[in-house]
Amino acid sequence: MKILAIETSCDETAIAILECVGDQQHATFTVLGNALLSQVEVHTEYGGVFPALAKREHAKNLVPLLTAALEEAELLHEDAQVISDPIRNQVERVLEREPGLGEAFFDFISEAERPAVDLIAVTSGPGLEPALWVGVNFAKALSLAWEKPLIAVNHMEGHVLAGLVEPAGEQFSISNFQFPILALLISGGHTELVLMREWLQYELIGQTRDDSVGEAFDKVARMLSLPYPGGPEISKLSERNRAAQSETAGFGSRDVPPVPRLPRPMIHEQSCDFSFSGLKTAVLYLLRERPPLTDEEKHALAREFEDAVTDVLWKKTERALEQTGAKTLVIGGGVSANTHIRRIFRENMLRDFPETSLQIPASSLTTDNAVMIALAGYYRALRREFADPDMLKADGNLRLA
Ligand code: KG4
Ligand code: ZN
Repeated sequence: MKILAIETSCDETAIAILECVGDQQHATFTVLGNALLSQVEVHTEYGGVFPALAKREHAKNLVPLLTAALEEAELLHEDAQVISDPIRNQVERVLEREPGLGEAFFDFISEAERPAVDLIAVTSGPGLEPALWVGVNFAKALSLAWEKPLIAVNHMEGHVLAGLVEPAGEQFSISNFQFPILALLISGGHTELVLMREWLQYELIGQTRDDSVGEAFDKVARMLSLPYPGGPEISKLSERNRAAQSETAGFGSRDVPPVPRLPRPMIHEQSCDFSFSGLKTAVLYLLRERPPLTDEEKHALAREFEDAVTDVLWKKTERALEQTGAKTLVIGGGVSANTHIRRIFRENMLRDFPETSLQIPASSLTTDNAVMIALAGYYRALRREFADPDMLKADGNLRLA
């Protein structure tokens, strides 16, 4: 089955086409086309994602990305198409609220043969609602014009499945997982521990009571005058400090400046919930009380912040693994790209839970992408959970559990 998937929940516009075979115990995927445009540069000057701008950029990028993905998949064949009036009217109504998209859509549709894809999957939530709507309306329009079924995907389910696929030659496959599967989802919008006792059945084990980890990274980065998105920037500085410190350990020559220890919020509480706003505030106070930091002090602070976050993430995950007896741990979401978090989770899992398998997504699937939306779309298609184009809505607060 060929799935065309669309992702516009935040600041990445992405379209992927996957060939999917197999059942949910053993599914294999071939990426036929994969086109992605990041809006990071557009949002950098605002220090975060600006919803109205994100919406405009998605609308501008979707048709070019669709063309690129179809071309890569060798599914783009130019041919004049006649669009019946009733279909044109329906599509016009759907795209009414997406300025800039309608014209490009009709130009494209009237010049390209219907591609041999079997269905269209689209992220319907969670995320920024104006951004989500562009993707949802685009998917509806394609579904109407091409007469293809539509599937609504929960973005977080995409992150979970992205961690479960493993490369198998030119393909990816999902197989042989032992349930229950515990997922630690850490992104710009989420910080949660979710348990899957069987395929696609979720139970919430813990979640943040305030900021998400990604937000904490982004806000602390901003306090250090680092550009958006802050996670990779903090990680870079912190790795410099780690490298400097290991040199010092070897030769005892260079002095690495110390910084005060930051709090590890809620680390001793019995629940699996998180809180990151106190950690962010602690950094703010620390910066207020000090003269401007030297570069080395900045590196040390970035490292202490990263250590604090990692300690809390690990402690809560450890607690959840003990409580649930999960046999597989999967990490997903943009923050799981973090080198230090990956390293500590690998080490600690080997040391403390050698029987539990740890699944970390390939780096290309870690931050937002449409491949993961196709994976989730396939699992939903296997259950024949199709969406009614008239009823489908974007839902910024859509939940897994
Ligand atoms: O999953 P994602 O791409 O988008 C959402 O669904 O939110 O996650 C984006 C978040 C941002 O907060 C970004 O700063 C963070 O992931 N991030 C990182 C790293 N790469 C991305 N955080 C820490 N270390 C990284 N290497
Ligand atoms: Zn995400």
